[in-house]
Amino acid sequence: MGTLYSALLHTHELLITLYVIVFTIKLILLLMNNTAGLARFRQRTRVIGEMILPFLFLATGIMLAILSKTGLSDAWFLIKMCLIALSIGTGIYAFNKNSKIMGIFTFLIFLYVIMLSYIKDPALHKPVKPDLSGIVTDPAAPGYDEVKYGLFLYVNTGCNTCHGPDGKLGNHGAANLSISVLDDAGLSTIIQNGRGSVMKGYSEKLNSVEIHALAQYVKSLRKY
Ligand code: HEC
Repeated sequence: MGTLYSALLHTHELLITLYVIVFTIKLILLLMNNTAGLARFRQRTRVIGEMILPFLFLATGIMLAILSKTGLSDAWFLIKMCLIALSIGTGIYAFNKNSKIMGIFTFLIFLYVIMLSYIKDPALHKPVKPDLSGIVTDPAAPGYDEVKYGLFLYVNTGCNTCHGPDGKLGNHGAANLSISVLDDAGLSTIIQNGRGSVMKGYSEKLNSVEIHALAQYVKSLRKY
């Protein structure tokens, strides 16, 4: 699923980029009062810019949401769908009625959705390396914090690459840790022994203190 997901994601991003470029050209023509130019450009790009591109980017977006661990029930996904539906309406209105205000408004909706997609959609950004400086790694030393040490191990052992910093990345079909319901013992068992073919056990790499710290970090990611 990892490769299908990333291929879809790249296609989705490309389609949106093309759509926004076409939209921006129309908006510039509208703002310059070039109604003849706008009509000509719309004529040439109507099928691709107002039908094929929006249809394909919506379709790939819905497929991505279905494939992601949180699925269609994710609140942000629903908000995004509503905003996009709204912007399709205001966009058509703007160019049919030559309304600059609506054109700018639609453009601002796009900007908002695209910016928030990068910030909010867990699957839309690659795992970033959190700042690990200053974390006390010796359980006996003053200032030791199990959850912080857990984060340290989470990044350095590579959990991050599949689960992502917030536990929601879902790379290679990784479980969404923000909705995990396992207790301490259940977490430790899975981290130690693994489960399935992708999530391997870490009993040879990590000792019990480390596994316990990781379990505490994993619990800190929960969103309920
Ligand atoms: C190569 C990708 C990969 C890496 C690296 C990885 N995991 Fe996983 N993890 C998975 C997958 C896939 C599952 C789902 C396993 C299944 O249910 O078949 C999973 C499941 C889990 C679960 C179970 C969650 C639940 O409630 O079902 C926990 C906890 C977990 N991983 C923690 C970790 C920790 C901690 C690390 C680092 C020490 C780690 N994982 C590294 C892929 C990975």
